[in-house]
Amino acid sequence: MLPTIAREGDVVVMIDQRKLPAQEVYVRCKTAAEVARAIKTMVIRGAPAIGVAAAMGIALGMRRSTATGTQKFAAEFHKACEVMAATRPTAVNLFWAIERMRRSFSAAAQAGESVDQIKDRLEREAQAIHDEDVESCRALGAFGAEVVPADARILTHCNAGALATAGYGTALGVIRGAVEKGKRVAVFADETRPFLQGARLTAWELVRDGIPTTVITDNMTAALMRQVPIDLVIVGADRIAANGDTANKIGTYGVAVLAREHNVPFYVAAPLSTIDLNTPDGAHIPIEERNAREVTHVGSAQLTPEGAAIWNPAFDVTPHRYIAGIITDRGIFRPPYIESLKRAFEVVTLG
Ligand code: MRU
Repeated sequence: MLPTIAREGDVVVMIDQRKLPAQEVYVRCKTAAEVARAIKTMVIRGAPAIGVAAAMGIALGMRRSTATGTQKFAAEFHKACEVMAATRPTAVNLFWAIERMRRSFSAAAQAGESVDQIKDRLEREAQAIHDEDVESCRALGAFGAEVVPADARILTHCNAGALATAGYGTALGVIRGAVEKGKRVAVFADETRPFLQGARLTAWELVRDGIPTTVITDNMTAALMRQVPIDLVIVGADRIAANGDTANKIGTYGVAVLAREHNVPFYVAAPLSTIDLNTPDGAHIPIEERNAREVTHVGSAQLTPEGAAIWNPAFDVTPHRYIAGIITDRGIFRPPYIESLKRAFEVVTLG
């Protein structure tokens, strides 16, 4: 499986997603601040992967702490959590993972653990977040495979693959799950301007897996849907609000509207850690705006004239009415989401 992120001794190693597919190079982070920077600068990206990286970064930072007293150690821990929380605002998995680390820390403090014991506990929690993410992806992949026809043409947007998670992927997890069940799948990958996650990362993953893949530029989706019978669209998510409104990579909303026009079912695949019942609807999801340079340049080549204003929102929100189902590690949830998503969490609490 793809090595998205791993702990190796006293560094956190991640494949540099900015350089793929041309180069497979790894970034070795020695401090929590370096991990935070890697998240901010998109060395690692994708909602679940960001959460995993933050947890592993916090555990790494605390392992390297020289504090001997619990008070100083606690202050450093809370600082590390704040630094991680300030990296990217939209993917709720980031805040979910930080909250898990905070709860782990509180439990250790309440139990009167020593600094060394707390360090061990934080490491275990971060690794658990990593390992559970792979399990969640595999589970949702198996559930999602059920909605994939035996011979399917699937469109996806951005990269919701192994690279965007601790492994296996969400939207690509469903595709992998379908292939593992013996279904024949052909994938159309939107290139996903401006960061090109579809062209660079999704295509790279799928080609490695031997899954037939066609890359299209974002403005070709409408023509594709008119000319080629697409069976379904599957995308990932950065945050799913309580009513099912879903923030995902910029361009997703347009794909959903086109899917409706062409009677193509539009599915979202995400682990429960992406569902945020505290956010009532899409209007309350903070949307990250990124650097203009991502739009004005490709590599060192300038595309736009000096003086042109640039707007670069990293995500958009797809209203829940366009979504046929939300494929999670607890099953597939259907409208009305305001009820079904709440039930998903009740199952977890009771289970
Ligand atoms: O800006 P990115 O590359 O972090 O955005 C990623 C996406 O929008 C993904 O589709 C989403 O995080 C789901 S990843 C399983």
